Amino acid sequence: MTRHSSLIPIVAALLLSSTCLAGSAPSAAPPSPRALWQRIARLMHEPGSILPGSRIDQPGSRPVDAYTIDRADPASRQAILHAGGIVHLHRYPSGALLIKENFSRPGRMTGVTAMLKIPGYDASDRNWLMASYAPNGHVLAYGKVATCIGCHALVRRQDFVYAPPPTQLLPVAFIEAFFPGQKVTAIYRKLIAAHPANVVH
Ligand code: HEC
Repeated sequence: MTRHSSLIPIVAALLLSSTCLAGSAPSAAPPSPRALWQRIARLMHEPGSILPGSRIDQPGSRPVDAYTIDRADPASRQAILHAGGIVHLHRYPSGALLIKENFSRPGRMTGVTAMLKIPGYDASDRNWLMASYAPNGHVLAYGKVATCIGCHALVRRQDFVYAPPPTQLLPVAFIEAFFPGQKVTAIYRKLIAAHPANVVH
């Protein structure tokens, strides 16, 4: 009995230290592609989930995303508003979920892209899981997707999150290099001509 009770402080200390370790380097398991799609579908139907700075049917850059709607979870929206806009927010909260609904024309969805921040998932690229889905939820890309990360890394200062057009725009040649065979739309080219200072290089 005496021996057991003398172990209690040691066990307690071990438990405490493992809790602290978990706290300093937490690493949550990524959801399955299906589970993430369910969260995305809920966000798409949530009133008021539009990303601050975005709007319904804002212009995108290519025929597959000529029109877009960006959305975010409540904590991310709050963080953006608190920072004074996407360009001023340098870290998104753990669990942040941002989505971009893509349309070839208003109401004609071509797909959804998403980024989910998971503690410890991909530390060198700010722990974003990148995913792309068809409109019916079929997963097309999922994980540490190099093309997505390669382009979003241009706005590393903003924790890989772009402000919607026309606040931030990309050069035509840059977009077309990432998406071979896809031409940048006339509307997007006009935005670049009208806001040359907003082009991110
Ligand atoms: C060539 C550059 C480029 C590539 C490649 C790219 N994106 Fe984006 N993405 C952008 C730009 C620019 C925006 C801002 C446009 C907007 O908000 O509608 C954006 C917006 C987003 C958003 C909304 C949040 C934000 O940053 O504004 C998500 C989510 C997203 N992209 C996910 C992805 C995923 C997932 C992939 C890969 C499957 C991907 N992107 C590939 C440039 C790119």
